[in-house]
Amino acid sequence: MRVLVTPDYQTLSQTAAELVARAMRAKPGLVLGLPTGSTPLGMYGNLVRMHRDLHLDFSRAQTFNLDEYVGLAPDHPTSYHAYMRRHFFDHVNIAVENIHMPNGTLGIDVDAETKSYEQAIEDAGGIDLLIVGIGANGHIAFNEPGSSFASRTRVVNLEPETIANARQHFSSEAGVPRTAITVGIRTILDARRIVLLASGALKADAVERASRGPVSEAMPASALQLHPNVIAILDEAARRF
Ligand code: PGA
Repeated sequence: MRVLVTPDYQTLSQTAAELVARAMRAKPGLVLGLPTGSTPLGMYGNLVRMHRDLHLDFSRAQTFNLDEYVGLAPDHPTSYHAYMRRHFFDHVNIAVENIHMPNGTLGIDVDAETKSYEQAIEDAGGIDLLIVGIGANGHIAFNEPGSSFASRTRVVNLEPETIANARQHFSSEAGVPRTAITVGIRTILDARRIVLLASGALKADAVERASRGPVSEAMPASALQLHPNVIAILDEAARRF
């Protein structure tokens, strides 16, 4: 895993956006794997600006989001669908039919949903460039500690720590979903290129263990050491070594 340490969150966000933009220009039909959470907000802001000011063209790109809560319909304000529209999709020229997100609406056939999500990734030719954050507990997407490195898209239970961190976005702790649909670790490792983003001192320990510690299912992000083309973009605060 290559590690690139940037001085601050702003530079991290700019660097990540430039990396995506370069890949888009090299392959206009790029297939992107996209994260949510607080870390990528700056990257999305920069990509929106590059679209507006530099005509960065998303019209042929395809996107696959990494996860979504179970129990929130796509129009729920704290769903990841809503996050993506608010911070990215509504502000760039991406074609609606090229946007893919797991659907966690209650009552849908989740088994069929997870299978068809993997199939859609395959039909798109696989993910070219996958951007992912890291949890303080080492999760990537919603693959919590103990997730199999062979895992694919599925429904998972969220760790208490993950639920507590999500609490700020919901009106009550009881309202935070306990389960989610996430791409698996194998799905992530199948991407041709992976960018891990980490900002802030709360992530420093997880980043160090992910990049230098033993490769173990107890530390999901350590799976990235098994991939030949990963770059971790950190800010100074997230660096421990
Ligand atoms: P964050 O989440 O960007 O909101 O810190 C990252 C993650 O938990 O994967």
